[in-house]
Amino acid sequence: MDHPWSAGFQTLPDEHDYRVDDIDGVVPPSLRGTLFRNGSGRNDLGGHWFAHWFDGDGMISKVRFDDAGIHYRNRYVATQNYRDETKAGRIVHRGFGKMRSLGPLGNAFRQPANVSNTSVVMQGERLLSLWEGGPPTALDPATLDTQGIEDFGGVLKAFSAHPKTDPDTGELFNFGIDYGAKTTLTPYRLDRGILTRLPPVVLPYPVMNHDFVLTARHMVFCLGPILVHPLKFLLGLKSFDGALHWEGSRPTLILLVPRDGRGEPRRIETDAFFQFHFANGFEEDGDLVLDLARYPNYSTIGDALRNYWRSAWSSRGMAALTRLRVDLETGKVEKQTFPTGTANEFPSINPAFTGKRHRYAYIASNPAQRESGLQQRISRIDFESGAVASHDFGPAGYVGEPLFVPSRPGGAEDEGVVLVMVFNSTDRRTEIVGLDARDLAAKPLFTARLKHHVPYPLHGIFVPAPA
Ligand SMILES: [Fe+2]
Repeated sequence: MDHPWSAGFQTLPDEHDYRVDDIDGVVPPSLRGTLFRNGSGRNDLGGHWFAHWFDGDGMISKVRFDDAGIHYRNRYVATQNYRDETKAGRIVHRGFGKMRSLGPLGNAFRQPANVSNTSVVMQGERLLSLWEGGPPTALDPATLDTQGIEDFGGVLKAFSAHPKTDPDTGELFNFGIDYGAKTTLTPYRLDRGILTRLPPVVLPYPVMNHDFVLTARHMVFCLGPILVHPLKFLLGLKSFDGALHWEGSRPTLILLVPRDGRGEPRRIETDAFFQFHFANGFEEDGDLVLDLARYPNYSTIGDALRNYWRSAWSSRGMAALTRLRVDLETGKVEKQTFPTGTANEFPSINPAFTGKRHRYAYIASNPAQRESGLQQRISRIDFESGAVASHDFGPAGYVGEPLFVPSRPGGAEDEGVVLVMVFNSTDRRTEIVGLDARDLAAKPLFTARLKHHVPYPLHGIFVPAPA
């Protein structure tokens, strides 16, 4: 292993099911329910690392908090890719970066296999495992058994891994990008089990886009100029990742799509930047406000993701926590950054504030003076006062996405626990940590040590226990 954090990318071959008995501190009685997380669980086959972190097979962790303590279970999503490659013991399908053998001949006209490795969302009684390039995979939330691909009667093709739920109406919004002769962004609304396809938007050129913002009126996209070369990919000359290129001379397009499906989308051009993730966004006084982890371009992050386990994860060129304020009358865009350190990623908020003016966000980052390495800190920013509080898990801890869990419905915005999974590079185990959202820098409320590591997960949700 090249770096202390590298071991956290290693495959977890086993599926576990046990009560966690190594817990420091106390799980608050208000924290009852289940944390689900998805991420690449298998990152190699036959002793060879996959070409890209996003190639890994989706593995769900289920962490249940109940009156008896904490229970852990993990299962792989039994996708076609997972089953085929487990059986063969080698690469069978194309992926985001991985290629089949035999060069272009073995890859031409084949789509990347759905590895269902990015996030999860509850839909009725089912857990949907999400992947950006294709439809979700339905799972039983109790057992994590795979039920199969869910394309809502053939309506769905691509369905991104960052759906947003309106906290007032319960409607879930999402989108998918389909590449073809034209590149199309299709918005979706899922309301009480019924999926509606909103009018598709033809994009001026093929771009990769991962996340969006839901406001009271719009679905908002920031389409940075990370272009896909579809022909190189289609002919098998390049992987999807290899067919991506940054065209910094083009603008980032801020696209406002009416969420009721009525009216034309609006496009505002601004200087080129890239983001994977938004914390949130909202509209107020004629302005659109977007909070995001903003990269100056795709070069640094693209390279780090490609080299994931061996990458130095240089902080130069990584993201800053940034607020964009777009004047919807003039189209003028103002930018403000916040002092949450370097390598900002996985911003999140109290989900009850989705699409509304939020005061707080939580984000993984590194101290400003650190020049490399995966994130070791969780920070909280107060957008009203500008105050930043941080919890540093160094020197051995490497963090992922902070997830805010409210203590009670209707409580104050920051009344709750921030859950984070931390890879401890000393004993190579993963810890489930609860921080007090109002006192982030304090000693954790609890630290629960798993018996093994969980390969760095990407995204998750918390499902409260039924009252
Ligand atoms: Fe994501």
